[in-house]
Amino acid sequence: MAISYNEQERVFKLDTPHSTYLIGIVDTEGFLGHVYYGRRIPDDNMTYLLRLGESRVPSIKNRERLSFYDALPTEYPGHGIGDLRQSCLSVETPEGYRACGLTYRDHKIYGGKPKLEGLPATYGGEEDCETLELIAQDRTLGLTVRLYYTAFKKIDAICRSVRVENTTGKPLRLDCVLSACLDMDNQDFDLITLHGNWALERMISRKRLGWGKQGVSSLRGISSHQEQPFMALVESTATQTQGQVYAMNFVYSGNFLGQVEMHQQGQLRMVMGINPVDFSWKLVEGESFQAPEVVMVYSSCGLDGMTHAFHDLYRNHLVRGPYKDKPRPSLVNNWEATYFDFNTEKILEIGREAAAAGIEMLVLDDGWFGKRNSDSSSLGDWFVNEEKLPGGLKRLTDELNKMGLRFGLWIEPEMVSPDSELYRAHPDYALQIPGREPTQSREQLVLDISRKEVRDHVYGMLHAVLSSAHVEYIKWDMNRALADVYSPALAPDAQGELYHRYVLGVYEMQERLLTDFPDLLLENCSSGGGRFDPGMLYYSPQIWTSDNTDAIDRLKIQEGTALVYPLSTMGAHVAACPSHTNYRSTPFETRGHAALPGCFGYELDLTQLTPQEKAMIPVQLEEYRKYGPVFRTGDYYRLASFSENHEYDVLMAVSKDKTIAVIDYVQVMTRYRLKSAHIRLAGLDENRYYRCSETGEVHSGAGWMFGGMLLPKLKGDFLSRLIVLEAVEE
Ligand code: DGJ
Repeated sequence: MAISYNEQERVFKLDTPHSTYLIGIVDTEGFLGHVYYGRRIPDDNMTYLLRLGESRVPSIKNRERLSFYDALPTEYPGHGIGDLRQSCLSVETPEGYRACGLTYRDHKIYGGKPKLEGLPATYGGEEDCETLELIAQDRTLGLTVRLYYTAFKKIDAICRSVRVENTTGKPLRLDCVLSACLDMDNQDFDLITLHGNWALERMISRKRLGWGKQGVSSLRGISSHQEQPFMALVESTATQTQGQVYAMNFVYSGNFLGQVEMHQQGQLRMVMGINPVDFSWKLVEGESFQAPEVVMVYSSCGLDGMTHAFHDLYRNHLVRGPYKDKPRPSLVNNWEATYFDFNTEKILEIGREAAAAGIEMLVLDDGWFGKRNSDSSSLGDWFVNEEKLPGGLKRLTDELNKMGLRFGLWIEPEMVSPDSELYRAHPDYALQIPGREPTQSREQLVLDISRKEVRDHVYGMLHAVLSSAHVEYIKWDMNRALADVYSPALAPDAQGELYHRYVLGVYEMQERLLTDFPDLLLENCSSGGGRFDPGMLYYSPQIWTSDNTDAIDRLKIQEGTALVYPLSTMGAHVAACPSHTNYRSTPFETRGHAALPGCFGYELDLTQLTPQEKAMIPVQLEEYRKYGPVFRTGDYYRLASFSENHEYDVLMAVSKDKTIAVIDYVQVMTRYRLKSAHIRLAGLDENRYYRCSETGEVHSGAGWMFGGMLLPKLKGDFLSRLIVLEAVEE
């Protein structure tokens, strides 16, 4: 049983394989106290952790009610009545009263997990998980709040969401509805977050937790290149393999807040949800507001435990569709090969090279529609530019299909160029504030996707194009942050809903696309990795990781990404050299090894390769065919990080049955070594024996893990090796 309720102690117990989460109902008033989250424990009364004897409960000492509110470890804090830490729920009544506080009303425990209407979320049946629906209320307002907790039976993850129901008989305005809160004492924590910028997303930051409020956020309308909706509190001594980790990740693709507040004598409050800045929601009587989901992971065995829980959860209970458990096709994308300068003949030329080398799919990127010969026009004009592609997509795809290549297409549905037929016909479709010049970015404006007629209009055009040819893959791009966020479709006092309604609109459009084209492989993208988040993974099993395709920068970007997201979700390509982003040149083989763990492809002009490079493509494709499944479905280990050692990078993936392991080793900066570098492997079966592809040596799993492996000495910078360990028959 994953979830139980002890009536005598009035405690809910949520168990995952290695963690326990306890919620207590406190005092005659029924406050919801957070008792414990950590390593799994048996049935035990742990309510002493609430320290109720120290700041007396109101029924005993009402004169100290405020300090009770302000110190109780709380499941879901309201505001305005005395808990003066960060609140999760803030409401305003028509009279202007701004206060609420929740107490227990009822609960349900059931198998499986309910869907979140209109929102992405993890899923699972009765065999996978159990859900606690804790029904709370603000007695004065008559407000109902449902707190959902789903505990997974085989994965150390608890997924939380919140639904606010206006049962007050009056309209209300919600000013803040966060999705999860975790109150606990500081345990000498560091805070790990992922930050970055365009072309260098998800750099790992680890710093000592300080006093006051700290964390991550976005107000860009997308989860962003700059910060990730992820944070982890880790014991300062924690490593990849040891120490406690408490992590939160938000299943959402818009503005977010993730915050840890250290206050008073070292008590912590960790929260995550929709950013309350620029958010408000009018909740009329009888309606409800569903806040998106937060995934909480606890690991007592370091960062590897956290990473494995996220990877297993997302691969099995978030990603959907026909490609969920399938190898992703190897592809060539023409973006860095041609940019906007192509025609049918050029694409077919690349296609012929691709087919000859054994690549499976060709993806036609930006520039195939309207009059788009640069990035300054035509977004919104989703019809084929017949000057470039006479005969339309049909002729092109037919030709490519004849060569044995499948076809994929780039689109950017949320945008409009001021120089476009769409904008000339419907300028009001773009987000803009009346009387103010709208802010352009890449010479484009954002469509008001919150409006159904705008979605229908754009979707109608896309549907026609996609139905005109055999399109098997879509790259859905989104190339700017939101600004001028105003919609004439919303009342003046409802403009605070627009950011969230925009995200809901994107989700609705992607769901429609997947419903109408159920065999489609969808890849999300946002100027590279600007919207790489679990919300998007619900719709697309893979996301373009970064516009930076340099193999060495990619090691860092993919390392930060893989801390949370499975390798199977990362688009990774062998690109042109010198790199178009940082002008670095790296060997073709190394570019292959850097891209191999992800959804593998090429992004360069195949017609311009040297004979040696061309000859390497079938070798790389064979490696992808053989070892791609290990990266895609196995356990990932970050063995050595170039960001930390400034010399080399080693990642490893081990198949779940522990029969094969692949070690991806890149020597970035050579230094003189009297002795070879030495790493300890991970994840093998201690008692089995494994043969190394590099040396032919056979050692036990225990030997490789505890004794370690001596890395081959490579003579030069940016060199790499793919080393395979295969279990030998006993
Ligand atoms: C940004 C994407 O990340 C690139 O891969 C490419 O598709 C361009 N947009 C096209 O405009």
